[in-house]
Amino acid sequence: MRVTPSNLNLRGTTLIYSRIAGTGSYLPEKVVTNADLEKLVDTSDEWIASRTGIRERRMAAEGETTGDLAFYAATHALEAAGTKASELDLIVLGTTTPDIIFPSTACLLQHRLGANGCAAFDVNAACSGFMYALGIADQFIRTGQVKKALVVGAETLTRMIDWSDRSTCVLFGDGAGAVVLEASAEPGILTTKLHADGAYKHLLYNPVGVSAGFRDEPNHGVRVIMGGSEVFKVAVRTLDRIVGETLEAAGMQEKDVDWLIPHQANLRIIEATAKRLGLSMDRVIVTIDRHGNTSSGSVPLALDEAVRSGKVKRGQTLLLEAFGGGLTWSSALLKY
Ligand code: ACO
Repeated sequence: MRVTPSNLNLRGTTLIYSRIAGTGSYLPEKVVTNADLEKLVDTSDEWIASRTGIRERRMAAEGETTGDLAFYAATHALEAAGTKASELDLIVLGTTTPDIIFPSTACLLQHRLGANGCAAFDVNAACSGFMYALGIADQFIRTGQVKKALVVGAETLTRMIDWSDRSTCVLFGDGAGAVVLEASAEPGILTTKLHADGAYKHLLYNPVGVSAGFRDEPNHGVRVIMGGSEVFKVAVRTLDRIVGETLEAAGMQEKDVDWLIPHQANLRIIEATAKRLGLSMDRVIVTIDRHGNTSSGSVPLALDEAVRSGKVKRGQTLLLEAFGGGLTWSSALLKY
């Protein structure tokens, strides 16, 4: 039989999109400045600011967990969306620093919010964690399985830092961001792109774990190991590619983008992506100077800040992108 829209039962079907109904974020209170780090390692405010764009970052208090940060960010996003936790059908949480090995931080968050019963799971894609979570939740909504989803990126990266390693300890901070997605007849998210290449696993990793074992070293050997300049080059190259791929998938051009909301890892990487898009830096959301690299927290934190400051307005087109350990790289093009 020949397949036609009518015998596939597609006639009159409306496409389902997911749209962002509300955003939220949370930063721990403690500020760690570059001057504070000058007392720990052989570095300078001048080196950190000029090479990365970072001036300060936040650090979770003793006992404050990724789940705590996620809870505050999620609460703000639910308030902004006017959504009750009990209405959620799905929680996807991007993190590489879960509270405990299991249950997932998403399950801990679900219980604390009072959203018991809905699906809840974590995604580990390092700094792409939130973007992967967003892409997954978007698919659930598009297929009609889910009407309302909470998507979170939350991290306490400072917990896995070797504070004697100047090449990594100056880069990271703690924070969380969240969005509530809901099914809509209008876009919404136009497209998401998710990629990974494990051949680059050696460029950015944490060498220990449950199965590989822990070590008789400070912090049980938990630390970030990074080939900074190699990661830098791959990041610029992959982001350049994914930006073109994302626009093409949505049938849009560089000039259609109102705001670039990038992963905040290095100001020079952000500037390279903006240049690729032909966007001036006043159309790019930059938080790295105050947040450092908050991994999965970075994009939703920047988005929430841009929404609450009034920069990003309803109806505008946003390009979100991230890259991180894996290596992973990811993007989303959406109408806010
Ligand atoms: N203070 C002073 N000097 C430093 C510091 C520091 N904090 N860190 C490194 N240096 C020195 C190095 O020892 C080196 O000295 P040498 O020339 O005498 O050997 C010199 O500075 C240059 O080092 P590079 O590593 O070549 O510096 P670069 O300009 O590449 O900047 C940086 C380093 C900031 C790490 C950059 O490469 C970068 O941002 N890379 C990308 C990082 C990233 O995005 N990570 C991905 C996300 S993280 C995640 O997924 C968890």
